[in-house]
Amino acid sequence: MISKQTIDKIFSTIRVEEIVGEYVQLKRAGSNYKGLSPFHDEKSPSFVVSPSKQIWKDFSTGKGGTAISFLMEIENFTYPEALRHAAKKYGIEIEEDQKDFSEEAKNAQSERDLLYKIHEIANDYYQNFLWEVEEGKAIGLSYFKERELRDDIIKKFQLGYSPEKKNAFTAYALEKGYSKEILEKSGLSIFPENTPAGVDRFRERVIFPIHSFSGRVLGFGARILKNNVKTAKYLNSPETEIYHKSNVLYGLNQSKQAISKKNVCLLVEGYMDVISLHMSGIENVVASSGTSLTTEQIKLIKRLTENVTILFDGDNAGIKASFRSIDMLLTEGMNIRVLLFPDGDDPDSFARKHPQEYVEKFIDNEAMDFIDFKAEILFKDIGNDPIKKAEAIRDIVKSVGFVQNALKREVYLKEVSNKFGLSEQSLFNELDVQRQVAQNQNQHIQQQKEAAAPVKMEVVPLDEGKEDPFLFEVLFMENKLVDHMLMFGDIVLKRKDDQDAEYQITVIEEILQHFDEEHYMFLVKGNEIIINQVKEGIQNDELRSGNFFVSFMDEEITSKVVDALLPLDDLENWASRNIYPPNYGDKIAEQVKGDVLLHKYRYIDYLIKQTANELDEYSNSDPVKYFELIQKITLLKQASMRLSDIIEYSPIKGIYGNRKR
Ligand code: UTP
Ligand code: MN
Repeated sequence: MISKQTIDKIFSTIRVEEIVGEYVQLKRAGSNYKGLSPFHDEKSPSFVVSPSKQIWKDFSTGKGGTAISFLMEIENFTYPEALRHAAKKYGIEIEEDQKDFSEEAKNAQSERDLLYKIHEIANDYYQNFLWEVEEGKAIGLSYFKERELRDDIIKKFQLGYSPEKKNAFTAYALEKGYSKEILEKSGLSIFPENTPAGVDRFRERVIFPIHSFSGRVLGFGARILKNNVKTAKYLNSPETEIYHKSNVLYGLNQSKQAISKKNVCLLVEGYMDVISLHMSGIENVVASSGTSLTTEQIKLIKRLTENVTILFDGDNAGIKASFRSIDMLLTEGMNIRVLLFPDGDDPDSFARKHPQEYVEKFIDNEAMDFIDFKAEILFKDIGNDPIKKAEAIRDIVKSVGFVQNALKREVYLKEVSNKFGLSEQSLFNELDVQRQVAQNQNQHIQQQKEAAAPVKMEVVPLDEGKEDPFLFEVLFMENKLVDHMLMFGDIVLKRKDDQDAEYQITVIEEILQHFDEEHYMFLVKGNEIIINQVKEGIQNDELRSGNFFVSFMDEEITSKVVDALLPLDDLENWASRNIYPPNYGDKIAEQVKGDVLLHKYRYIDYLIKQTANELDEYSNSDPVKYFELIQKITLLKQASMRLSDIIEYSPIKGIYGNRKR
């Protein structure tokens, strides 16, 4: 978590005109700068930057904000990613605020930092070797030249070369003071028992660094240069603390702007496919690097666009395996098209044979929707066998079943009906049957899960707000906090303050304090009444008398209180039968702390959304109000980001998981 001081320092150091100036050609216009919108193709400039106010505004799309929000827009960074990027540009050292970290989390954080660092060092080392050292130039660079890569492309993808010498990089890194342990953990070096000097993982190979969304080096792919050697053509970094193959897409960092601008992502298989397409000017492309697509990878694409075109080699053996990827993409709500290159060509060879415009047109015209694609593949060697035909159609209908949007699903089903001359009704029936089967399976799994899960203490929330998920979540947590007060109100919690001094506070006091701090407006009238009564009770020192809660309130509230208190009775019954449920007394401190944070987090999300709605109203009419609102959103987002970090790093993550939008 970036410390508040660092955030302040970043905001006071960076210049919006400099940051924007890296992406937009700015010309002076009075006290402001003007340029062409980077978010929209236009001929006359409608993009304005104000150096005195340190803000920008794009009149063609209505977007606007600070330098940091510009980075978030253009690079699709999250807030912390944008801050880190800006800090790096201005040489500001990021101070991590670690007071909320456990000792363990702190160590893990610094280990991750070391891993990032060693990858940066390695990346520089391999590139330097390619460009500056005789062996690298003679073998690595000449290999890339043979494959007709231009210098600017080699640099853009930071390609490198790892020398032949057994421990060249390992020795270099040890010399620089990196430990064997961290080198081993990074996967860059191996230390066999009889070889204390260590061995480089990558030797005599050309190197393809694999970047994160925001451009950090996470690992490497390395290609062998001799074709006759009996070892894998590409050697990749192993899974490490920072490199999780299933969460990464090759080329995403270099392609994300084009993907979001063109609103479609081309999906290819290999490193070279990505690079060749970039070289011919087609920059909206990523590779799954030979593995099958994962949900995490799809979510990365979805940050940028909902449209994916899969590009396949004409002679690809693994095409049927791609059907799973198609179903997964559909499940995530993506729109898919698929392109088969002519026999013998892959995106790499095709892009090198033809000019950009031709390739673009080819992709546009030849890509099929998934129904035509599956039909083409499945029907290829079926002949006239009616049973196999029916199986193939069933397979296609199954994919249609993964389409999330009901309207789209119906359109696709119509298409299948037309294509195969089947009645829509029979296809609907088929879909229904498949649904039923899937549902039964799910239900079964769900039942197993429920049987294994510990007893839940949640009280069913009121039904209000269901149509607005933001509102609903705040409401849900509000109810939960009030329930905690009712159930465990007088339990005393041990807490530590900023100076690490221990103090005691009851559950009621802690939750009240939170509501007061936020100047929180209750969404449920009943909760407000309860809270006011509790406050009164505290003042009059009535709170500790046994049936305080059940006696002083009106009918409706009493029943809520009773509901909330019921689970406790359940537990007591259990104990009387010698069955001991998990001890909530031990967990309550964590639970309350976590729920307070979560309530705060969701409340802020809700406020952000409300403010964003307001923003729409003023975007054209009142610029002053507009920028006020933008500032408000920025502040709220800062708060939200800090909270999400706390939630991510604290032990309560285990209870809630990390929820991010
Ligand atoms: P390809 O064999 O199609 O590689 O594998 P390519 O990108 O076309 O490479 P060139 O043109 O021969 O240089 C596709 C992808 O599968 C992964 C790599 O990510 C590769 O880019 N792969 C392939 C491996 O990880 N290991 C291998 O041994 C082979
Ligand atoms: Mn290839």
